[in-house]
Amino acid sequence: MKKLSVLFCSFIASILFMQASDRDPHQFFPDKDLSLVGVYYYPEHWEQSQWERDFKQIKDLGFEFVHFAEFAWAQIEPSEGVYDFAWLDKAVDLADKNGLKVIMCTSTATPPVWLVRKYPEVLIEREDGTKWDHGSRQHPSISNTFFREYSLKTIDKLAQHYGKDTRIIGWQLDNEPRVSADYGQVAQQRFRDWLRNRYTTIGALNKAWGTAFWSQVYSDFSEVNIPRMSQQFMNAHQKLDFKRFITDEMASFLDDQTRVIRKYSIPQQWITTNYIPEYSDGHVRKSDELDFHSYTRYMVFGENYGIGRKGYRLGPVERIAKANDFFRPIDGVYGVMELQPGQVNWGQINSQPLPGAVRLWLWHVFAGGSKFACTYRYRQPIYGTELYHYGIVGPDGVTPTPGGLEYSEFIKEIKQLRKEYKTGAKNPESYEKRRTAILFNHENSWEMEQNKQTTEWDTEKHIDKYYDALKNFGAPVDFIDERADFSKYTTMIAPAYEMLDKELVERWRTYAEQGGNLILTCRTGHKTRNGQLWEAPFAEPIYSLIGAKIDFYDLLQPSTPDQIVFDGKRYDWTSWGEILIPDTNTQTWAAYEGDYYAGRPAIITHRLGKGTVTYVGVDSKDGEMEKAVLKKLYGQLNIPLLDLAPGLHIEYRDGFGIAVNYSDKTLSLPLNPNVKYIFGGKEIKTAGVSVWKE
Ligand code: GLA
Repeated sequence: MKKLSVLFCSFIASILFMQASDRDPHQFFPDKDLSLVGVYYYPEHWEQSQWERDFKQIKDLGFEFVHFAEFAWAQIEPSEGVYDFAWLDKAVDLADKNGLKVIMCTSTATPPVWLVRKYPEVLIEREDGTKWDHGSRQHPSISNTFFREYSLKTIDKLAQHYGKDTRIIGWQLDNEPRVSADYGQVAQQRFRDWLRNRYTTIGALNKAWGTAFWSQVYSDFSEVNIPRMSQQFMNAHQKLDFKRFITDEMASFLDDQTRVIRKYSIPQQWITTNYIPEYSDGHVRKSDELDFHSYTRYMVFGENYGIGRKGYRLGPVERIAKANDFFRPIDGVYGVMELQPGQVNWGQINSQPLPGAVRLWLWHVFAGGSKFACTYRYRQPIYGTELYHYGIVGPDGVTPTPGGLEYSEFIKEIKQLRKEYKTGAKNPESYEKRRTAILFNHENSWEMEQNKQTTEWDTEKHIDKYYDALKNFGAPVDFIDERADFSKYTTMIAPAYEMLDKELVERWRTYAEQGGNLILTCRTGHKTRNGQLWEAPFAEPIYSLIGAKIDFYDLLQPSTPDQIVFDGKRYDWTSWGEILIPDTNTQTWAAYEGDYYAGRPAIITHRLGKGTVTYVGVDSKDGEMEKAVLKKLYGQLNIPLLDLAPGLHIEYRDGFGIAVNYSDKTLSLPLNPNVKYIFGGKEIKTAGVSVWKE
């Protein structure tokens, strides 16, 4: 009997689990559609008499869906407990009449004024004790229990109203969810509860935070506060846990929203949110209830990045690529919720994009495997915070902008490409052979950035050196986390993986023993998951895996770089160099030059079971060394590499090859002469795109 009830419980649990996170997101996007294209529209901003004209033109430009209501809480719930969906129903009706599907949003970023006046505790309290106020967005606290519960009540009504509506294809939660520290009383209490849940006893917290240091010891959870980030020398372990806490808060808020919507929504409605794809945003990947993850991307955003004299008109080639490669592996499906249609208003110097840039970005998003691209926004705003922000049409509401026309051109091209699509088309074998995993954990970045040890260190740039090299080789890259199946990848890089436990080391060992090729880099394994050094020789847990000991590490002043000699070439370094003592079966690939440890190993490799482990104990200045290391290793593994010019990326999806050129020159594609070009050709101009079938 007992056995039966256990079986029954696990059966129920498996059904529940399947309903939540086991929905295969591929079901929402038929492969033959390739990519849908849509646009943000704010009915609440415009006279109702103009809506139909606008939807008609949106349709005529080729768009397939519109995106509604992510800031419309004040219109949806004009006073406490009073809901008004009539205006939104009318907008949905008119969109549908014009053949447009709808993405419906929750508007938790912008509560109405009556809510914050009646319940001022929902506003974020900053470190200095001042409070944020109504009139902006993202001013309520996700660590305020009342705010969370009230939001869910409103979302419940919204989901009851639209959850069965087949015109709604999916849901977006919040807007660019981001975490801001709230020092209010409720947040303090939630932090303490989170800590109690993590450590159970105050003794365990004291140990994890090393509070014997400087008399920091606590006798009760009630004494613990949210760390003051501006206070010098604030306990780093406490800061790390606070980061974990606030990202958990954001993630669980999104999961709570998802659960409420799922109570009502029909199975074909998907749920996602629109993340900002920055490495520091550690709540991404924590909301497991979402059907898939989406991102937003702006490319000409006021900074002087890009190739050539005015490369900033296109932006850096890695910016979309990295977001694609970060988001796709999470669920196997991703979308891009906002992609810049033209000039923005919020950068330092908001230049015009280069003619052709918008189409280039759209194709680049597509190349990564995206299931949809959506743009912020249809009409240029004529009031509010975002004056001067371009839309698909200008301030008159009808004249398409250059970016609007490029969207329209892209949509026509996608519709043409759908006709060329063949079910089950595969990517070329050589491309798949190059596929590489980069193992990434936000917590390592937080920890290294708060404990840099040298201003020369930049975690993101360190990872980019490997990423950029891989893209130059024409390799598909999957950013994965520790939940992924490592065995799917022939090669896996874990750059500067500072905090780990012995289980992860064992997983890495098994990966290599079974034929994987693991590349670890400097700073890996220095610390426990609590950010403490091991009570052992420095980084000792990885010694037997890398086939070496680490004798010591050095950091140089920027004015006195030294060199690493690798295969007869010299590469400058300053930021981080570990001096290694290899075991007898470990081969030295590169050594230091220029200081008292000249001649001692910096890069080593050895065979482990059926695979290899390579350890790069140094971080070069410009990334050329990292590229040379990968080139040599991949050469030994017979992985065929391309050598693409800077700014040129090539990807494959659904049987199509796509090349994008962000450089300031016309380039020639290194492709088999038999390929059939569908758009563009072998020669690819600046901002040019070529699409082909092999
Ligand atoms: C972000 C937001 C949008 C809008 C755009 C403007 O990405 O999500 O609501 O403010 O920026 O570029």
